[in-house]
Amino acid sequence: MNIEVCFTPDEYQSKDYEKFTAVVIDVLRATTSIATAFSNGCQQIVPVEQVEQAFQTKEQLYPEAILAGERKGLLISGFNLGNSPLEYARDTVQDKTIIMTTTNGTVALNKAASAQKVYAAAFVNAKAVCFKLIAEGRPVVILCAGTDGRFSMEDALCAGLIADRLKDHYHLSDKALAVQAMYEAYKSNLVARVAQSSHALYLAELGFAEDVKLCLQQDVLDVAPVFANGILTI
Ligand code: MLT
Repeated sequence: MNIEVCFTPDEYQSKDYEKFTAVVIDVLRATTSIATAFSNGCQQIVPVEQVEQAFQTKEQLYPEAILAGERKGLLISGFNLGNSPLEYARDTVQDKTIIMTTTNGTVALNKAASAQKVYAAAFVNAKAVCFKLIAEGRPVVILCAGTDGRFSMEDALCAGLIADRLKDHYHLSDKALAVQAMYEAYKSNLVARVAQSSHALYLAELGFAEDVKLCLQQDVLDVAPVFANGILTI
């Protein structure tokens, strides 16, 4: 069985991965916030690509839902929550439906929708997702959300962590081997390394430096969100 890696949504060709489990990663910050929301009792998350679609989904399907997400890293006008994991506290999200739109993460999730199964993963819930992947035994494609269509280091490092955890059960593709080696080289200094990445620097400029540290905590949340029929649940 193989593990393949796509560094951007454009690299992901749905027809190649119909029999795979897709693992969508957006460490900074969408999949970290998604895992945090579920860990704090959120009922379901509807990830959509466009802001307008979020408003329509709320109006037509989930009038009680929380609108969440970001554009350029910031709260969207008319929305309840931004995309900082700190905002997805139990008091705010427990038993709630969240409609979420983010620049890269929710786009990547929808791109992977036709895979056999789709998980949302980040450093915070990597162990829980790896546990499912090994138990289910399908070939795996890791889809890194990247940043505005470009490679992002933090997503590749998380892909490397997952490849490392699965290596005894899977054949690693060249890209999986490369991200695993990168993770191996950087793991002792992950926070400092990722702090230099373009999106981490941008988030720090916006005042979200604390988010970057939170998003690099490993295996602290025991949730493996699954995306099916347009909805994320656990
Ligand atoms: C995204 O989906 O592009 C990100 O999660 C952006 C962010 O909130 O940092």
